[in-house]
Amino acid sequence: MTVHIGALKEDISKVVIMPGDPNRAKFIAEKFLTDYKLINNVRGMLGYTGYYKGKRITVMASGMGNASMGIYSYELFNDYNVDYIIRIGTCGAYTTDLKLFDLVLVDKSYSNTAYGINLGYNENNISASLNLNKVIEETINNNGINVVRGNIHCTDTFYNKDYSEYLNYGCIAVEMESFALFTNAKVLNKNAACILTVSDSLITGEKLTSEEREKSTIKMIDLALNSVLKL
Ligand code: HPA
Repeated sequence: MTVHIGALKEDISKVVIMPGDPNRAKFIAEKFLTDYKLINNVRGMLGYTGYYKGKRITVMASGMGNASMGIYSYELFNDYNVDYIIRIGTCGAYTTDLKLFDLVLVDKSYSNTAYGINLGYNENNISASLNLNKVIEETINNNGINVVRGNIHCTDTFYNKDYSEYLNYGCIAVEMESFALFTNAKVLNKNAACILTVSDSLITGEKLTSEEREKSTIKMIDLALNSVLKL
C-alpha cells in the first residue's frame, strides 16, 4: 500500500484505465467488467479490478489536474509495477474543426506546468508512448471508429485567461492531466496514452450536459477496453 492507494500489490493489474472522475470508474466497473472488486477507496478515489473479455484490468480514477494525476499514476507505475496507463477524459475544443462528442487520441501534450521540471524533465511538451498509441490506432482502424489525432494543451488553470500560445503549438483542445501522466511514464520507463472526448468548446461555448457526458464517454471507454485486450 502507499499513502494514497490502499490496495495490495496483487490487487492491481499491469494495465490501468484512468478516468478523472471516481464515479466514472465505478460506472465502468459496473457496466463493463465481470468479477470486479473495489481495490481503492482512499479519499474516494475509487479503483476496481476485474475482467473485460477475460483480460484482467484495473480502472481507477485520477482526480482532476496534473497534481492529482501525478500522485496516482506515479504510485501505480512505481509502487504497483503497472506497465500501461490509458487516461480517458474530456477536453475543451480550441478549434471549430472539433465537434462535441468527437474523440481525440493525443500525440503530444504541451504545458507550462512545473510538474516535469520537478522531475528533471524540462521540455514544454511530451509525447504519449508511441507503442501504446500504435495499439490504440490499430483498434481504431479495426473498428472503423472516427478519432482525431493531435496535440493538446494541458493546463493547470481551468479558468485560464490566455491560451493563444498553445494554438501556435498546434494544440486542438485542452485538458488538465496528460502532462503529468506522460512525464511519469517517461521518467519511470513505462507506457501512457490519453483518449479524450470533446465535452465543450472554448470557441462557441457549447457544452455537453451531464447526461450526454455519460453517454458520450461509452465510445471512448469501448476504445480503451478493446485496446487493452492487445496488451
Ligand atoms: N479546460 C480544461 N480542462 C477541460 C476543459 C476545459 O475547458 N474541458 C474539459 N476538460
